[in-house]
Amino acid sequence: MGNRLIGYGSYLPERIVNNFDLEKMVDTSDEWIVQRTGMRERHFARDDESVVDMATIAAARALENAGITINDIDMVIVATTTPELDFPSVGVQVLGRLGATNNAPAFDVRGACTGYIYALHCARAFFTAGMHQRIMLIGAEKMSRFIDWSDRSTAVLFGDGAGALIFEHSSSSYSGIIDTVVMSDGGEFEMLHGTPDHHIIMNGPETYKKAVSLMPQAANYIMEHAGITADNVDWIVPHQANLRIIQSGAQRLGFPLEKILVTVDKHANTSGASGVLALSYAFDNNIIKRGQLVLYPAFGSGLTWGAALIRV
Ligand code: UT7
Repeated sequence: MGNRLIGYGSYLPERIVNNFDLEKMVDTSDEWIVQRTGMRERHFARDDESVVDMATIAAARALENAGITINDIDMVIVATTTPELDFPSVGVQVLGRLGATNNAPAFDVRGACTGYIYALHCARAFFTAGMHQRIMLIGAEKMSRFIDWSDRSTAVLFGDGAGALIFEHSSSSYSGIIDTVVMSDGGEFEMLHGTPDHHIIMNGPETYKKAVSLMPQAANYIMEHAGITADNVDWIVPHQANLRIIQSGAQRLGFPLEKILVTVDKHANTSGASGVLALSYAFDNNIIKRGQLVLYPAFGSGLTWGAALIRV
């Protein structure tokens, strides 16, 4: 029992904030941000624009791309850490906004920046069990709501946006989500976490060290499990947290830089939306072609980390 990717869509808020804009908001410089992170700009949602608003637009675009309607979807899984409401889930709200009448189940996954890999893991399990026909996976975050403008070490790192992917049941096990691995280490949660008053606390250098070792670890596990090497993979789409982390991880894995998709310069770190947004961007710009094999490692608060292998 397998699956295949039948549609994608994304949404980025209209407002683009570049590093020079940030210089006016916090004690930083374009030079520091570019050198340390590779980020140049990010999108910030309007005050009245919610995670559900962004997720709904990305979902509608994915439905249009797939040429199906919302009632053709029989499960929605949303990766998000920044929902405005504690309940109900962003997933059911998206179904409501899109006018679903088929009573499909929906739920949110809180895996922080690894959230979309956790969501892919769930989707793969449901397809493997033969339980669902069409699953919509959404990554949506309003990270700007969590920014502490008195902490320059985290204020410059994040952006907002949403992406959606639709997978359909297929008899082939070599298309769509082929394999996934997800892990966590709750003992390290203090390294990177949110606070009750919605701020981000991060020990940057310690988080950096973990990211450059754990993302390649998950990617290697997936390649070994699938019996493939870096040569067999067309693209690596890593979680977009920092260009230096992406490049160091690629080097450790033996991937040439031409095979690495980079969107961190345009979107900054959009946490649970990062990989889904990146893939949509790559399709829209004809960078990644349908049918190619994509390795998808991620890492984030939890700590959580993991990877997926997807034939797109
Ligand atoms: O998505 C989830 C996972 N997240 C990550 O993987 C993020 C991992 N960490 C990182 O990407 C990097 O650690 C950061 C980009 C957050 C920071 O880069 P760094 O090279 O580790 O810098 P640092 O924290 O060691 O700080 C170096 C210097 C300090 O100044 P001193 O003490 O050397 O004088 C900081 O105060 O840079 C200073 N600094 C800044 N300067 C200008 C910190 N933030 C800024 C800033 N602008 N925004």
